[in-house]
Amino acid sequence: MPVKTTTDNSGKVIKVVIIDTSGSVAVVYNHGATITSWVSQGKERLFLSKNAVFDNQKPIRGGIPIVFPQFGPGDIRQHGIARINYWEFLGYKDEINGVKAKFLLKDSEATKEWIHSFRLTYTILLSENNLSLSLECTNTDTSPFTFTTLLHTYFRTLDVSNVKVGGLKNLKYNDKVTKQENLVEDREAVTVSKSEDRIYYNAPETVIVDLGSNERISIEKKNFNDIGKYDTSVLFTITWFIIVFWNPWEELSKGMSDFGDEEYKEMVCVEAGTVGEPISLEPGYEWKGEMTLTVL
Ligand code: BG6
Repeated sequence: MPVKTTTDNSGKVIKVVIIDTSGSVAVVYNHGATITSWVSQGKERLFLSKNAVFDNQKPIRGGIPIVFPQFGPGDIRQHGIARINYWEFLGYKDEINGVKAKFLLKDSEATKEWIHSFRLTYTILLSENNLSLSLECTNTDTSPFTFTTLLHTYFRTLDVSNVKVGGLKNLKYNDKVTKQENLVEDREAVTVSKSEDRIYYNAPETVIVDLGSNERISIEKKNFNDIGKYDTSVLFTITWFIIVFWNPWEELSKGMSDFGDEEYKEMVCVEAGTVGEPISLEPGYEWKGEMTLTVL
């Protein structure tokens, strides 16, 4: 079977394991539709904290939590409601190019902190070297709404001091640690040796994350723009593609109860999304963003 599910006592699916014929495996918790593990070519590619909490309340620390409809702090809780809500497993399909699994989050009593009616569909396509993720948001409300979103990917590394992220040179960025804005990246390869929290704007279609130990993963963003009947006047803003680059480093790690004190050495977050300009969606309209991770 390409998919194995785990249920709770009431028969509700709480975990979905996707298995491709190549041997690649992805583990998805219905809580947040969080992918907590991606094994490709026999190697774990994602970081999951040993202190991650699986209480169906807190976001899971590691893997790929979904940030929606708000990046960072703001009107509702930090990084929004998608990562702390239960997503329904809609089923799977064997495709020529891998196994596809679908998850759904709709507005409900549990999401009402964000007042809008919406439908979010998350499609995961797993193949030998790729993990392709597609997020679709439909406005099922009677009035327009805006949102920001990203896939908060925690990559696993054996040693963060060897990590290099390429493809960000000459991009404008904001540094949330030093609180400086409108800086320009002048490095060919971005490295980590201290607490980092940066937002790079207008990132290219492909960013390469060199995780050291001969491990390179590309992040390719496709169609962080419209499908169907989107108002083309706002097309430009939704193709705005950002990369968030985050590592809490020593001091901040100690303040995080769901993160080991030394674990900052084993991870780096490189997060693709749409944050610079909120996406504005009319009732009945749909937005779709796609990200493909490829082991190079
Ligand atoms: C990053 C943000 O995306 O997520 C950081 O840029 C934030 O500012 C980090 O600290 C982790 O957020 P959280 O809510 O998962 O602790």
